[in-house]
Amino acid sequence: MIYNVCCSFHIFLLFALAIFVQISSQAGTSGSKVEVLPGFEGPLPFELETGYVGLGETDDDMQVFYYFIKSENNPQKDPLMLWLTGGPGCSSFSGLAFQIGPLGFKIEEYDGSIPKLILRPQSWTKVCSIIFVDLPFGTGFSYATNLTAQRSDWKLVHHTHQFLRKWLIDHPEFLSNEFYMGADSYSGIPAPTIVQEISIGNEIGLQPRINLQGYLLGNPITTGKEYNYRIPFAHGMGLISDELYESLQRHCKGEYIEIDSRNKLCLRDLDYFDECHSGINLYIILNRYCEDDSPKKHESLGRRSMTQKLEDSFNSRLRVPDIRCRSYGLFLATQWANDESVRKSLHIREGTIGKWERCYTSDFKQQISSSFEFHENLSVKGYRSLIYSGDHDEVVPFMSTQAWIRALNYSIVEDWRPWLVEGQVAGYTRSYSNKMTFATVKGSGHTAAEYKPHEGFALFSRWIAKLPL
Ligand SMILES: *[C@@H]1O[C@H](CO)[C@@H](O)[C@H](O)[C@H]1NC(C)=O
Ligand SMILES: *[C@@H]1O[C@H](CO)[C@@H](O)[C@H](O)[C@H]1NC(C)=O
Ligand SMILES: *[C@@H]1O[C@H](CO)[C@@H](O)[C@H](O)[C@H]1NC(C)=O
Repeated sequence: MIYNVCCSFHIFLLFALAIFVQISSQAGTSGSKVEVLPGFEGPLPFELETGYVGLGETDDDMQVFYYFIKSENNPQKDPLMLWLTGGPGCSSFSGLAFQIGPLGFKIEEYDGSIPKLILRPQSWTKVCSIIFVDLPFGTGFSYATNLTAQRSDWKLVHHTHQFLRKWLIDHPEFLSNEFYMGADSYSGIPAPTIVQEISIGNEIGLQPRINLQGYLLGNPITTGKEYNYRIPFAHGMGLISDELYESLQRHCKGEYIEIDSRNKLCLRDLDYFDECHSGINLYIILNRYCEDDSPKKHESLGRRSMTQKLEDSFNSRLRVPDIRCRSYGLFLATQWANDESVRKSLHIREGTIGKWERCYTSDFKQQISSSFEFHENLSVKGYRSLIYSGDHDEVVPFMSTQAWIRALNYSIVEDWRPWLVEGQVAGYTRSYSNKMTFATVKGSGHTAAEYKPHEGFALFSRWIAKLPL
């Protein structure tokens, strides 16, 4: 479906009006401090609040669950960020517990007791307050009476925007902090759209005003053409032969997503490609391949959309994964989140959610095929942005990200150079006149800060403080 520009503005105005109306009848908005968590020894050494923001007309209608962690530095001054994990439909608890938050799971064999939590010293909350939000509805602990009606790209965009303004009404002490939107993976599609909606909301005078400064995206899906870059990426990484690469280029002509079924030569090359590839962990090609972590085998790459494949790999598996696999941590998270005592500590409303699943991907309507135009619009408005790529991710390869950034046609203000952590090259960066910074994280994967926490933290903390990388 194509976003209809003329009509959507009217819808937007209506929606804006709806916000004003709903502010006065705040249904079921609440936040509570969490001082201890099962699995973590002693009181939490940071401030965690969890709660719900109601977006519907009645209490049960639409309740968005969030985890809010105050900056451990100076919450009065430090920026505020809203984080959306990808999916669509993966709980932002993934971002909190596996990537950028202050807690993580201790990887040890599950014995039926509560999985243990440990501190992540490179938490981005050392320099920034972060709201981890479970959206779209159906994700994590958020709930709605009619899920089907609430699950689409545009609903996700509106709900996130609405959530944020309501959350700020309840937390007026953060109104003056600089605000950033952060997201990764699939959320590279809705996030720039959300930023545009916040920006337009400010322009037409929606209250409270959001002190919007910019956005950052990690290995973001953007044009929907990311899959086409897998072939040159795999070639550059030495995973396929020069001959196969040349043959693929010759027969498929750079299009590996929509393939004419009569193009037998291209299909044959892709089968060979798949064969060479079936043991590669696409999220980080250097690591162990685990079936639980990866898109399903034996499916030719061009025949289904990438997001479909991503969804397959998120769907919960029945058996316990191998402890050497990334999915073991996700398995522990699922055991943890389904424990009664954990739910009590997080102030989860009883009876609202059955089994917690890290990702809930059913029934989601993808309506925005590319977020390129939103980046284009945001560039004109002068917002800062950081786009980073774990350079060993094959799901959203750095080449595809560089290609759309180049297509924005902005001039380079600081050309390609290494950026360093402790005197070592941590990646490469380039900055553009539209205040966009691109950076690779060397040797990292799809969720860059997860695989390279020191480098990820250095990147974020420098950029958010407006320092050179
Ligand atoms: C839920 O929403 C869908 C889509 O808007 C609608 O077709 C369906 O009738 C609704 N179901 C209920 C029980 O209201
Ligand atoms: C970009 O901005 C223009 C001008 O305000 C607007 O007409 C257009 O709809 C925007 N693009 C998108 C994808 O929203
Ligand atoms: C960038 O420049 C190319 C070549 O001049 C042009 O075709 C394209 O439309 C431009 N893109 C944008 C986003 O302005």
